[in-house]
Order: sequence, then structure tokens, then C-alpha cells
Amino acid sequence: MIALRHVEKSYPVGGGQTFVLRDISLDVARGEFVTIMGPSGAGKSTLLAVLGMLDAAWKGSYRFQDSDVLALSTKARAELNKQHIGFVFQQYHLIDGLTVSENLDIPLSYRNIPRGERQAMVADVLDRFHMVGKKDVFPPQL
Ligand SMILES: Nc1ncnc2c1ncn2[C@@H]1O[C@H](COP(=O)(O)OP(=O)(O)OP(=O)(O)O)[C@@H](O)[C@H]1O
Ligand SMILES: [Mg+2]
Repeated sequence: MIALRHVEKSYPVGGGQTFVLRDISLDVARGEFVTIMGPSGAGKSTLLAVLGMLDAAWKGSYRFQDSDVLALSTKARAELNKQHIGFVFQQYHLIDGLTVSENLDIPLSYRNIPRGERQAMVADVLDRFHMVGKKDVFPPQL
């Protein structure tokens, strides 16, 4: 569960401040899918960096489940990010030197998931996307 309240992000420009995010309040329930749309420069990536806990230089409040994100230490915030946040980039950013299976395992390995369970998750995803035959292939060969 996400609750943003009155989020503000600005940059000093000239003598004043330019606001990129201003008075942003947003609730996202568990399991809910949300799309953020807007013209280039509207602040979508800026907002995602706040939601993804990559940026802590803003004002307002952000509750993620039971945590007050801005009040956390950098380390605790990174831990929360690691457990709960995932980004899928438009550029797919696979690691060329790792196989398809190993690439799938990387983000799971950052979480406290036992090895056997991770292997089952990887196998399930490979199956779901009909890629079992490609599991030991390296990205450049895909
Ligand atoms: N360091 C900075 N100083 C001043 N303004 C900045 C700085 N960094 C970003 N901005 C401004 O913040 C605004 C929002 O940028 P952001 O990247 O969040 O937009 P976006 O909606 O993701 O755009 P796009 O659709 O092009 O990805 C832009 O107008 C940008 O110029
Ligand atoms: Mg963007």
C-alpha cells in the first residue's frame, strides 16, 4: 500500500525554484495497477524515482506499507527498495555474461529467498514465456 501526500520536488533555477512535482497526493492499493501519463518533462520519471525510493531529496510524505519512507535511514530505505521495488526498463539491461536463467535469478538473489525457491520461480517464468529451451543461452544469442 502506497500513500503519497503533498509531495514536492523543485530545483533552484536562477534566483527562484522550479517545481517539477507540486502537491502530489496518490494512493495505490496492494495489487492495483497504475499508469502514469503525461507529456515529456511533466515529471513522470521524477515521480517514479520518488516512488521507487531512489530519490529522497523532496518534501511531503510517503507511506509504503508500515514505513514512513522519508524518515528511514538511507540503509533502511535501500533495504525496503530491495525487498519491494522492481523496475522494468525500456532498454532491457540484461547482463551479457550471464545466461537467461542467471539473469532472471539476479534480482531474486537480492532478496531473502532460498535458492531452491528461486530456482522454482525462474523455472516457472521460463515455462510461462515458453523460454525453457533458451535458459542456458546468453542474451546476445537470443
Ligand atoms: N537538475 C535539474 N534542474 C532543473 N530541472 C530539472 C533537473 N532535472 C530535471 N529537471 C526538470 O524536471 C522536469 C521533469 O523531468 P522528468 O524527467 O521527470 O520528466 P518526464 O515526464 O519523465 O519526461 P519524459 O517523458 O521525457 O521522460 C523536466 O522539465 C526537467 O527539465
Ligand atoms: Mg521520463
